[in-house]
Amino acid sequence: ELSKDVKLKEVSGILLQAATADSWSKIQTFEAKPDDLLICTYPKSGTTWIQEIVDMIEQNGDVEKCQRAIIQHRHPFIEWARPPQPSGVEKANTMTAPRILRTHLPTQLLPPSFWEKNCKFLYVARNAKDCMVSYYHFQRMSQVLPDPGTWEEYFETFINGKVSWGSWFDHVKGWWKIRDKHQILFIFYEDIKRDPKHEIQKVMQFMGKNLDEAVLDKIVQETSFEKMKENPMTNRSTVPKSVMDQSISPFMRKGTVGDWKNHFTVAQNERFDEIYREKMKGTSIRFSMEL
Ligand code: PPS
Repeated sequence: ELSKDVKLKEVSGILLQAATADSWSKIQTFEAKPDDLLICTYPKSGTTWIQEIVDMIEQNGDVEKCQRAIIQHRHPFIEWARPPQPSGVEKANTMTAPRILRTHLPTQLLPPSFWEKNCKFLYVARNAKDCMVSYYHFQRMSQVLPDPGTWEEYFETFINGKVSWGSWFDHVKGWWKIRDKHQILFIFYEDIKRDPKHEIQKVMQFMGKNLDEAVLDKIVQETSFEKMKENPMTNRSTVPKSVMDQSISPFMRKGTVGDWKNHFTVAQNERFDEIYREKMKGTSIRFSMEL
């Protein structure tokens, strides 16, 4: 295992990757267009999954069209920066409308133009415990995020929001709070897992599309974890080892609900529940933690 010395940088109290923080003014002044659809998630919440679903809907279930490029290239990642490669903003600027974009930013850091242009936002939330487990394994294998340390150490880092893109609690609460004030479809990873067709249908309606049953069934099949794990356009297999070392942990790791039970000790779970109650006081958002 390579020893990593990756440092994050704060932007308004939120830790972000250094290159993102360094190009912050370019990100903040990004110009959205009224017909942009922005996929919004906290990291490890099913971003890649919903991206593939959205693309399949957009392409009317045409699998070959969804094979045109790796998923990271199909939907520009607004705050992504790794000079000298073109940044997320630059990629988005060269894209023709209607654009589908992605971000992990919390509401307060989103480029203001997205609100001003009244764009559509598709937010996917995943329960905190599975998110934390997934993020821990991701930081083990990612060579561009800090080493997570031991599971015990990561537990503290995560609950204190000292991870890239900040606190899970604040992120989810922030987007949930404004869901009725903007064009936001707010869905849950656990619901897509339980009833993919139903959730895919909601996304389809939100996108203003109308696909028949057979196409919906095909999208359900093509976006299953098993299919996406084998699909080189979604499984990150083309990402160099210097960025993601998938021999440590695969990007398509488990794709289940409730894997937290294999990681949390009883004591950690009790402590987490207590912190959760405290931090989530006053919000009406509810997650299912097992399936
Ligand atoms: S990232 O790096 O933030 O963009 O990661 P993200 O795509 O948001 O999240 C990765 C987790 O989502 C799981 N995944 C899926 N689950 C179910 N079905 C499908 N099709 C699917 N595709 C990706 C992926 O396995 C990661 O979760 P874990 O729990 O680590 O397996």
